[in-house]
Amino acid sequence: MPAPGNASSTQALDRLIVALDFPAAAEARDLAQRLRGTCKWVKIGLELYLAAGNAVVEELAGLGFSIFLDLKFHDIPNTVAGAIRSASRSHASLLTVHAAGGPAMLAAAVQAARTANNPPQLLAVTVLTSMDRAQLAATGVSAAPADQVLQLGRMAQAAGIPGLVCSAEEVQMLRQQLGPDMRLVVPGIRPAGADIGDQKRVATPGAAIRAGADMLVVGRPITQASDPEKAAQSILAEIAEAIAV
Ligand code: C5P
Repeated sequence: MPAPGNASSTQALDRLIVALDFPAAAEARDLAQRLRGTCKWVKIGLELYLAAGNAVVEELAGLGFSIFLDLKFHDIPNTVAGAIRSASRSHASLLTVHAAGGPAMLAAAVQAARTANNPPQLLAVTVLTSMDRAQLAATGVSAAPADQVLQLGRMAQAAGIPGLVCSAEEVQMLRQQLGPDMRLVVPGIRPAGADIGDQKRVATPGAAIRAGADMLVVGRPITQASDPEKAAQSILAEIAEAIAV
């Protein structure tokens, strides 16, 4: 746990999201129990959600965690609106859609979230952090990743989406172009010296915060660490230090 009473340490808690990418609820529960009191936010993605369903969302919310439900909706507007309404019945505070679904899909998502009783905040995924120029080109997009991210970010903002998922490489540019109110959530975070795995556009926690990220998503550097609590504490300390500068 960061030193109590220190404003930067308290803020750091709100800025770290631990990605619980596990195949079953038991493993997510074990890690969540270990991180309880150290971290505040957890992310439930497709792997865990499809294995454990909404029960795991409710269980982790019941343990006191704030939930980022990362299901990355991408479908026709009517279907996405329905999915948002269903997801809004859970205790998710953040929910993702793919910006590549286009303006009509994003507008339908915003409208559906607005009419929910317990509206989650929507985040639009721009370009996955595992995509580099070659991967993007293979999908028919010849733009550089940063240009594509900006195009999708502007489109999402125009549709009323309040936050984006982007890589640390684009965060500074998006902050400048889209202003201070857009929530920027950044995965692909690797502490110095950590294994980058399948991620391509990575940054350290401190660098991402200094570049303008609001929240960092960290999976394997915490979940696969021999001491996950210690790994989370060290990332929180790095975030707190970057906030304080
Ligand atoms: O283990 P790692 O730290 O790479 O996990 C990153 C998490 O962030 C994964 O759950 C992944 O699905 C998610 N994510 C991402 N890139 C995006 C959006 C989400 O890596 N653009």
